[in-house]
Amino acid sequence: MAKVTPHQWPWRGVIEEYRDFLPVTEDTPIITLLEGGTPLIPSRVIGPSLPGRLRLFFKYEGVNPTGSFKDRGMTMAISKAKEAGARITMCASTGNTSAAAAAYSSVAGMTSVVLIPAGYVALGKLSQALAYGARTLAVDGNFDDCLAVVRAITNNYPVALVNSLNPYRMEGQKTAAFEVCDTLGGVPDFHALPVGNAGNITAYWCGYREYKERGLVDSLPAMLGFQAAGAAPLCLGRPVEKPETVATAIRIGNPARWKDACQAVEQSGGLFRALTDDEILQAYKDLSSMEGIFVEPSSATGVAGIRKLAGEGYFGTDPVTVVCTLTGHGLKDPDRAVEMAEEPEPVPADVEYIVDLLGLASTRPDTKVAKPVAIQG
Ligand code: F0G
Repeated sequence: MAKVTPHQWPWRGVIEEYRDFLPVTEDTPIITLLEGGTPLIPSRVIGPSLPGRLRLFFKYEGVNPTGSFKDRGMTMAISKAKEAGARITMCASTGNTSAAAAAYSSVAGMTSVVLIPAGYVALGKLSQALAYGARTLAVDGNFDDCLAVVRAITNNYPVALVNSLNPYRMEGQKTAAFEVCDTLGGVPDFHALPVGNAGNITAYWCGYREYKERGLVDSLPAMLGFQAAGAAPLCLGRPVEKPETVATAIRIGNPARWKDACQAVEQSGGLFRALTDDEILQAYKDLSSMEGIFVEPSSATGVAGIRKLAGEGYFGTDPVTVVCTLTGHGLKDPDRAVEMAEEPEPVPADVEYIVDLLGLASTRPDTKVAKPVAIQG
């Protein structure tokens, strides 16, 4: 069992909380928005309804300062860029990385340049990049095209790359695995998450391994990586030239961390699996309506995957602990939420009309016959 120590409050952000595990020194300026410390929420409905005996937990990363798990890596990447004297940061992004890069760069007093695929970034994320003051370039191309440009520029100009190719991003993101262990008091049997550019699965696997190497936990989880069927290079074993999915955050055809992600899955005895957009959107709807957890569509991919595997009997009949990372907040993609729901009903500001509409008229307690409250003494 785990020998981890509980954290103190107030929470100080992932670098201070896990300083011993991160490549920072006294001289590193810590650029933080107090990210991390996110809840591990036990599933009330979805987990118990699945075949098998799953104890399912959601690591809800949507409550980070910019609304996604990217803040964990960005606090490290920007702190180290600042320490190195960088003045300009740059990233390619399907939206969440750009939001985090823009926010943390602005805290650090650096200029942030973000390249996003034109027309394929959800409204909430785009509004963040603009609000935090990033120079936002909408590229005529997909994420993979954006990343190729960013790599070429950051290789040749004094501009700090803050995509997950930056090793400090991985260092920061691995703290999510530490938090899972600290909260559970041990390691889950399985860890599920959506996979796009494959940085997060790589980082979690590093985090779990590091806790084990330090003797803080005594086992490792199987890593389960889930992709959208129209953007599933890791499932197909080859790049996808024109990735397509409603889950725009993971609309990626040639993940930068391809090799690392494959290693994580192979070494841990896990797997990659693809889910259709319908399966992803069903999980998206159910997470909010059944569990009260509002995520963006991509973030529901792990839940769709767990459902699929449970239906195939993958988890067996013994009790197993499964953690599923919910990567981003539902407000990131408000258009999708509104599109999937019934339209609000227009009504007059009229009590009787609304009471009638809701069928409440016959349910009102008769206040006239209510007994006065007895006063003692
Ligand atoms: N979920 C969300 C909400 C994401 O934004 C991303 C990646 C992923 C899952 C996949 O994580 O790339 O580490 O495998 N978003 C990147 C971005 C690509 O630019 O915001 P990954």
